[in-house]
Formats: sequence, structure tokens, C-alpha cells
Amino acid sequence: MQNLLIRGGNSLKGQVRISGSKNAILPIMAASILSHGEIILNGVPDLEDIKVMSEVLEILGATIQRRKDVLIINCANIDSFEVPEHISRKMRASNLVMGALLSRFGRAKVAYPGGCAIGSRPMDLHLKGFNSLGYEITDEYGYMSGINRNAAGKEIMLDFPSVGATENIIMAAALIPGTTIIRNAAREPEIIDLQNFLNRMGAKIRGAGLDCIRVEGVTRLGGVEHTVIPDRIEAGTFMTAAAITRGDIYLDNVIHEHIQPTIAKLRETGAEIMLNSSGIRIIGSKKIRSTDIKTMPYPGFPTDMQPQFMALLSVAKGTSIMVETIFENRFMHVPELRRMGADIKIEGRVAIIKGKNHLEGAAVEATDLRAGAALILAGLYAEGETRLSHLEHIERGYDNIHLKLQSLGADIQTKLD
Ligand code: UD1
Repeated sequence: MQNLLIRGGNSLKGQVRISGSKNAILPIMAASILSHGEIILNGVPDLEDIKVMSEVLEILGATIQRRKDVLIINCANIDSFEVPEHISRKMRASNLVMGALLSRFGRAKVAYPGGCAIGSRPMDLHLKGFNSLGYEITDEYGYMSGINRNAAGKEIMLDFPSVGATENIIMAAALIPGTTIIRNAAREPEIIDLQNFLNRMGAKIRGAGLDCIRVEGVTRLGGVEHTVIPDRIEAGTFMTAAAITRGDIYLDNVIHEHIQPTIAKLRETGAEIMLNSSGIRIIGSKKIRSTDIKTMPYPGFPTDMQPQFMALLSVAKGTSIMVETIFENRFMHVPELRRMGADIKIEGRVAIIKGKNHLEGAAVEATDLRAGAALILAGLYAEGETRLSHLEHIERGYDNIHLKLQSLGADIQTKLD
């Protein structure tokens, strides 16, 4: 098994290019099912999650070719409508094909994704939305099945602005008659990218980025070439790496507007951040200050940046409070950070972080994707060697993070056990 070996203490310096957004590409790949034409996606990073979504589409009968960072998808010959359990368990986002399959073929059978490390993550909002549109949904032996019973546009009020449910319902509504209105929709930038992608294929969707989205059903969608938006969480992770190492780095391929909450919180901790039209420069402060954070749906502070900030605040001057409101069990990185000397107490969904100026390298485990990123950041700061295991979680969502960090001067390498 591969580990990452990190020797802390180097300040990051230089320039890094941010890859295309994982969370934008996954729903866009699922939405390709809606198209009769050829889909060309540019700026696709090299990630395990993208391999899993490719596998899902291939199982359904799509053809996929990859040339460097370009993905060419053709869903003209889809002839299966079932995602088996062994695939669904690999990646929760494989459920995103359900809305598209229902919309285009009127039927779908997808294995429940099951729980995951950060929370139980049910599917009730997705299924309630499908049901409101007129798809009959049944549960059978760990599978959710749907069939079109004269599905047509309806008004749907989401109980919570779930990202996946918003995306799945948009796709389920794209090819049925009538107008669907989704209220209390999630507002994440990845939903705007999905809308742009679908509209360029011929869909009629308005309002993504706001809390009310309107989908007018059309009868057919064609091919398209699309460049995916940059990954705001990868950008935030590198910015936090610069802050914790007191570095000075420049990020290109970023959209400032998408990372405003991360920028605001980094500035509160003392980092200097300068924006220009093509990128962002961040200079870490010698004195990292504490701050309080509450995760919220977009445009609030992203839950996907919570673990990385926890690493940063572990070495801040003063005490910080972190409240996690999105996932009920997203503090798996805390026991690992404690192994490195961090002083963090958990009370339910609240973490109290007493900043220290010393962390010590240790053997730690990446329990999930962003927890892994947090431990890399702590390792870049800590004295001595950090040995990070279970890299498979990190490879799901970061494109060669160790090589990118090496190019910024970090002492980090992979090693076989
Ligand atoms: C997406 C992102 C993930 C991010 C999350 C929140 C992708 C591929 N993943 O995940 O990186 O952390 O948004 O920003 O885009 N919920 C229900 N019932 C449902 C659906 C969700 O109770 O039917 C709950 C979840 O358990 C969770 C909360 O709603 O507590 C938010 O989940 P959601 O916004 O759906 O996240 P995902 O789309 O799974």
C-alpha cells in the first residue's frame, strides 16, 4: 500500500494550476446520458471518482474515450438502466445517473449508495422529487427503482438545499413535458455549470445559482463541447496550505467569486490575499489568528473546506470554534490531528480548537477525502515526518496533489509500505 511521507517546515513558494472541478464534472458526466450526440469535456482532472463515473456510464452502454484532460462521451447506445451495488458503494455520486436515466428512458434501477464516513447521507430528497414529477419509485432489496408514469413538470419544494437532489431533479425534469420549478434549490457554482452544459445541448433551464430553478422540458438534447469550471475546493486547499506554511503562492485557473467564503476566513486568520483577473496570490501570515466558522450551504463556508481549516486553526494563536451544520459525522480527522498534537474537543457538531504553535509528525490515516487533505496540511507544518496512509481517499478528489505540492517546494513523496 502507498503512503505519503511528509517532512514539515518548508514554506510553499511558486505557482500552481487548479484543475477542473470534481463536483461539477460528476453531474455533467451523468447528464451526458440525456444526450443523443457526442459530448466533449475539456479540463477533466485525473481522479478516481471520474474513473468510477466512467465505469458507471460504460456499464449502462455508453462509450468513453480519454485523451489527456479531454473526455469524449457517447450515450447513443445506452441499453442498460441499472447501476449495481458494487459500483454504487464505491461512490455516492453514482446515484446522479438516476434522474437522467428516468428522464431519457423512463426507467432506472440504482443501488443505494449506503452510508459513508462523514454521515448517513440518505436519498429521500432525490426520491421525493422524482415522485412529485410522476415517476413511480419503489424500494427493492437495496435498490431504488423508478418508472415513468406520465411524468410532467411540477413545483417541488426541497426540505433542504441538497446539491445532489437539486442536480438529480434538474436532470429528471429536462426531457419531460411541462415546466418544473425547484424551490429552496442548492445554489452551488457546480449547479450553474450543469445548467450551462445542459442549455448548450438544447435544454431550457433558468435560475441556477439562485434558490428557484425553472426547467422547461424539451424533447431531445444534442452533443456539446464544454470546459468545466475550476475546482473551488482544490483552490481553497492550496490557499490554506500556503497559509499554514507561511508561504507565498500564486494560483491560476480560479474563479474568485466561488471562493469568497474561504478568502474571507483566510484573511481573518491573517493571510494576505491579492486577486487579479487570472488568479490569486496568497501570502501566509507569520502570526496565524484564530477565528470561528460555521459551515453552510453555498454561498456560506463550504463543509468541504472544514477539515483543512481545522488543521490551520490547530496552529493559530487563540481558541477557535468550528460548527459543522451539513454532515453529522464530519470530524473524523480530529483524532488523527490529535495524534499530531492538536488540542481539539468535540461537543456534538461543535469543535473547540485551542491553537498551539507546535505539531509533531506522526503516522496518521486519511479517513475520507477532505480529512486526508487536512492531514497533508498538518504534515506540511509539523516538525519531523508524517506518514499518511489510505491515500485512496485523497486520489478520489485531488489530481496529483503530492506532485503539485512538490513543485511548490514541499518535502512530500509517495512510498510503498
Ligand atoms: C455534494 C458534494 C460534496 C459536498 C456536499 C455539501 C458532489 C459530488 N458532492 O454532496 O462534496 O460535501 O454537496 O456541499 O457534488 N441529505 C438528505 N437527504 C437527501 C440528500 C441529502 O438528508 O436526499 C442531507 C445529507 O445527508 C447531508 C446534507 O443533506 O447532510 C447535504 O447533502 P447534499 O447537499 O445532498 O450533498 P451531496 O450532493 O451528497
